[in-house]
Amino acid sequence: MTHFDIAYEGKAKQLLIIDGDPEHYVQRFKDDATAFNGEKSAKFRGKGVLNCAISSFIFEKLEAAGVCTHYVEQQNPIDMLVRKLEIIPLEVVVRNVVAGNLGRRTGLAAGSAVEPPIVETYYKNDALGDPLFADTHIEMLGLVDAANLARIKETAFQVNTILGPIFAEAGIRLADFKIEFGIDAGGRAILGDEISPDTCRLWDMETGESFDKDVFRYDRGDLIKAYQEIARRLELSLPVE
Ligand code: C5P
Repeated sequence: MTHFDIAYEGKAKQLLIIDGDPEHYVQRFKDDATAFNGEKSAKFRGKGVLNCAISSFIFEKLEAAGVCTHYVEQQNPIDMLVRKLEIIPLEVVVRNVVAGNLGRRTGLAAGSAVEPPIVETYYKNDALGDPLFADTHIEMLGLVDAANLARIKETAFQVNTILGPIFAEAGIRLADFKIEFGIDAGGRAILGDEISPDTCRLWDMETGESFDKDVFRYDRGDLIKAYQEIARRLELSLPVE
């Protein structure tokens, strides 16, 4: 395998430098899972392959629907070729249902609909525990300019509108999800990172069973089986071991 230098190593992915290609990275999906700001961590053999396949499928759907993203192509079972972006330290969360942090903050019952859906922004900063940020804080810290912030929020709603029906057709409720953006060479905020069961809450439409990282967070069963169920319902073909 070609040797790559690591430009950035996150909890579940690496961004690898490609010799002679300053415009792209290889985004490699790892088998590691962490939760609660790194307090809980484990390795799940095959998670990288599942998330790479699911993420590639989703980014292809988004690109086809006209969303500008960093995705270029899936190169092999764990690697995605992406355009290089300058990272914006924001976690952008879209919520269709009350779950997790929203229930704890508002006192609303978990499982009730958020109608219309909302977008929230969190400062991506492990030392501070990723606090919820208002636009004023984003502006104060100069994380992104106003035009790009507006664009980010609009794109977040657009992603929700595109993905909701795709999952619904597979019998899955997209309860909420987190996305990240970066600035491209032209100064525009573009959708980056991944969209996978690590970053979404995906519930069985009928039973409410989780097929996402909550399985690991709250010890609700076998993470690989849950992610495989998402891949199966999206009719993705995966490499055989
Ligand atoms: O914890 P919270 O309720 O804010 O999570 C909202 C959504 O964002 C969930 O789908 C969760 O998986 C995702 N998330 C994430 N990475 C984080 C925080 C939340 O992918 N650091």
